[in-house]
Amino acid sequence: MKDIIVINGPNLNLLGKREPILYGAESFESFFEGLQKHFPKARLRYIQTNSESGLINAIHDAGASAVAGIVLNPAAYSHTSIAVGDAVASVDVPVVEVHISNVFGRETYRQHSFVSKYAAGVIVGFGLEGYRLAVDYLLRS
Ligand code: DQA
Repeated sequence: MKDIIVINGPNLNLLGKREPILYGAESFESFFEGLQKHFPKARLRYIQTNSESGLINAIHDAGASAVAGIVLNPAAYSHTSIAVGDAVASVDVPVVEVHISNVFGRETYRQHSFVSKYAAGVIVGFGLEGYRLAVDYLLRS
């Protein structure tokens, strides 16, 4: 059985309440329950942190525990944090970067990510469905 970890960054604890027009009306906890049911053969774990160090530590821990893959939405830290990009570069585990909204249709400062260069791939703009696509990819790879 493969272990996959989903790591969400700042403000994503408010999914369902936060700007639903951009991020939808469902909480991540509720979505995650469905995600686990969708992939009964995988062991899915989920961590959310509002801090940059929390993200970096979660990426390091996932790398050290040799999970099969990381689904990472670094949220606003994608656009600002060289350190989160370095953390992704430092682990020997495939990372799929996910953004719920289509960041390329939004403010220009959201159109660059310090993480993408080190990601196996990037999924943008498909809402929460992006997480399902990412897990599907990691389980097949
Ligand atoms: C986001 C996009 C980021 O620009 C934003 O700061 C987020 C969420 C997304 O999933 O669409 O918090 O990563």
